[in-house]
Amino acid sequence: MRQMSEALQHDIVIVGGGGAGLRAAIAVAQLDPNLSLAVVSKVYPMRSHTVAAEGGAAAVIKDNDSFEAHCYDTISGSDWLADQDAVELFVDEAPRELIQMEHWGCPWNREPDGRVSVRPFGGMTIERTWFASDKTGFHMLHTLFQTLLQYDAVKRYDEWFATKLLIEDGRCQGVVAIEMRTGQIRCIKAKAVILSTGGAGRIFPFTTNGAIKTGDGTALAYKAGVPLKDMEFVQYHPTGLPGTGILITEAARGEGGVLLNKHGERYLKDYDLGEPLEVDDPKHPQKRTMELGPRDRLCQAFMKEHEKGNTIESPFGDVVHLDIRHIGEKKINKLLPFVRELAKNYAGIDPVHEPIPVRPVVHYMMGGIHTDIDTATPMPGLYAVGECACISINGANRLGSNSLTKLLVFGKRAGVAAAKYVRSCGKFDDSSLESQTASEQARIAAIFNRTSGNERIAAVRGDMHHAMESGAGIYRHDATLATTCEKLAMVRKRLGNIQLDDRSNCFNTELTTMLELENMVDIAEAVAHSARQRTESRGSHQRTDFPERDDQKFLKHSMAYRTEDGTPRVEYLDVVITKWPPAKRVYGEKPIESGA
Ligand code: FUM
Repeated sequence: MRQMSEALQHDIVIVGGGGAGLRAAIAVAQLDPNLSLAVVSKVYPMRSHTVAAEGGAAAVIKDNDSFEAHCYDTISGSDWLADQDAVELFVDEAPRELIQMEHWGCPWNREPDGRVSVRPFGGMTIERTWFASDKTGFHMLHTLFQTLLQYDAVKRYDEWFATKLLIEDGRCQGVVAIEMRTGQIRCIKAKAVILSTGGAGRIFPFTTNGAIKTGDGTALAYKAGVPLKDMEFVQYHPTGLPGTGILITEAARGEGGVLLNKHGERYLKDYDLGEPLEVDDPKHPQKRTMELGPRDRLCQAFMKEHEKGNTIESPFGDVVHLDIRHIGEKKINKLLPFVRELAKNYAGIDPVHEPIPVRPVVHYMMGGIHTDIDTATPMPGLYAVGECACISINGANRLGSNSLTKLLVFGKRAGVAAAKYVRSCGKFDDSSLESQTASEQARIAAIFNRTSGNERIAAVRGDMHHAMESGAGIYRHDATLATTCEKLAMVRKRLGNIQLDDRSNCFNTELTTMLELENMVDIAEAVAHSARQRTESRGSHQRTDFPERDDQKFLKHSMAYRTEDGTPRVEYLDVVITKWPPAKRVYGEKPIESGA
């Protein structure tokens, strides 16, 4: 590895160049242009995974909608595990953030009268999902990126891979990062660090997540002693394309698409998800039924249909059909052009004429780095936001289209909180940051130069994937989780036996893949152990040996602390309840009056 050179220095370092990181950066730059700000990202920002988001971003804007309705949908969708103070703040801020995006140039779809369009989304009682066709994430990321370019104080470190948080004096004071183009390992000092590195869906084999979503920031915080909250809650999306895992957006169902089993039946009618709506009247207000039920319930229904033998065999596992043919070519081309493009290119079918084969696919981590409502972690100077963070508004099951809004609302909040912290904090002891960087360089050099070892990255990663999919998927049981934990412990041991072939310093992706794998193993263990210890069923965490929700014992967030052998210590933290006491989740009936 290359020798390190002089330390770099900024006031704030943001690690992650997706929607949350860019929104945080804009907030810092606007609040105080004199602050020196760095955005460190392992990919060019426009390649961050926000770009892949499709369906839309939720916020109350129409007269038939209300603050209470959005809060209630989010809280009941979360199976009461969301912190209600965070949800209230989120719902209140959401419309302002989406209007701000409009002013920065985001091309929201519009009604003929010029007002913004909203579409129905799963688990939302009322249509409140703003969208830019079915490429909403792409347009949002562009909007944020072009806006950030206005601010000269922002220094971008594109294609730099952060490997360690620098902690001294009990505070986070920067990061160590590899400049991937040269292989140099650099110390980047900062008074505050914001992690916005996205989720970790890649700990599973079948996911909508891009290859970059390996939970790097989450693992950095975990290694530094910050707890990971609610890691057992992994969201499956009901409609992934078999084979690739590419997302077929929920917007396809929002616009009227239906799910059919092998008998051509809308099987969701059998799963307490309400009555079928007329397919030609999909925007029926005040109902969240059938295909517009929440993701956890739809994925569980798929598994039950599979058990009953009602799914359809395919070369990539069993599927059901998503039928959007009745929507018609004109509307599909206008509102769902990307769905058509993806189905044609990756499934070889044209959804104007044929149903799309789909199956549940890992999509989103509800859990993440523990933060307070201001995005501050328990480590002074360290903030986290976006999918890598658990604030928490998602609880046990996130509602689709809340996350794009969440990264804006809390991205801004993270930027403001970090800027205020930096302006108020004094000078701390930072005498060991260079030597910490040297130790990190030695650790990475040892991996890079290892000449013994008979393991390959792909084989070890494959076994981690198998352990997660076979034991910690949609339905779980103590026995399956115990096996997963054991297999992960073996995977961890094998990490030290992996030998790399690539000895180059320039874009050594074998090395970064190895570091990503180390990060993923940490996260997989946090997921599996937290899941094993939650002996109840709630939202996306379904235990066949404990099928009921247990509010007595588990109306609590899990908090996983890393230990040296990989088995986390799991503690619990009370959920914040403000106005909505725990109740049964009801779908297909009117849970709250419009405008209440
Ligand atoms: O289906 C979708 O478009 C996904 C949206 C989301 O996860 O928020």
